[in-house]
Amino acid sequence: MTAIYSQPEPSASSSPVTLVTLRRLKKSRQKIVCLTAYDASFAALEDEAGIDLVLVGDSLGMVIQGHPSTIPVTVDHMVYHTQLVARGLKRAWLVADLPFLSYRDPQTALHNAGRLLQEGGAHMVKLEGNAAQAEIVAALAGAGIPVCAHLGLRPQSQHKIGGFRVAGRSDAEAACMIEDAKRLEAAGADLLLLECVPTPLAARITEASRVPVIGIGAGPAVDGQILVLYDILGIGGSVRPRFAVNFLLGGGTIAGAVAAYAEAVRALTYPGPEHGFE
Ligand code: KIV
Repeated sequence: MTAIYSQPEPSASSSPVTLVTLRRLKKSRQKIVCLTAYDASFAALEDEAGIDLVLVGDSLGMVIQGHPSTIPVTVDHMVYHTQLVARGLKRAWLVADLPFLSYRDPQTALHNAGRLLQEGGAHMVKLEGNAAQAEIVAALAGAGIPVCAHLGLRPQSQHKIGGFRVAGRSDAEAACMIEDAKRLEAAGADLLLLECVPTPLAARITEASRVPVIGIGAGPAVDGQILVLYDILGIGGSVRPRFAVNFLLGGGTIAGAVAAYAEAVRALTYPGPEHGFE
């Protein structure tokens, strides 16, 4: 019987991405390509395009749910969207965000991270933090849960830090972030993510870290880049961050846009100097 709908063939390098793959990419100075996804169809398309790491970000509160911030997102929302994305992936490493207040102490963090891995199918959880979260990172790492620590602009703390602003511009802030990165890595973080961090500071943290460092608005020296899917498709609110590029304009199709983004990151043509901060 002829199949009416065909399944896309797996891409050439179809072995699943693991932490070993990500560390090897850092060591060999090949860029790690990361992108957010929130459902199975886009996840499958990103997987086919060779995206190495797919993040179910709590940005879904803004781009999917239409909230002005990520704060209303719950663990149930994250588990649901992680399940959808997991069904679309064959190769990519799957990271899910721990949402606001879901990791306020080690016990709560273990419970919620466990749900994201066991019910959602995530491989790793991401939490926004500084050295104050080292104990939580250590508890997760000790339980065998891979952790990505998100430093710099931390959207879940937007009301505390005065909105969405570049982090680490003053010497004092920069020194603090370098120390935070060291403490989180020592506590067991397997990946660091830097959001809206001046390019020279991101370069220093990347150079000093043994674990891969992923950037968004953190310049070209980091080990990998991540963007929000809807930003590379030119969909979204009226505010377009400086680092966001609409790859659909050159790519023609959604699959083309995702492939163009991956190609630009690997060929070092994205990000350019105009996408970073000093
Ligand atoms: O929630 C998210 O999508 C993120 C990215 C912006 C890195 O944390």
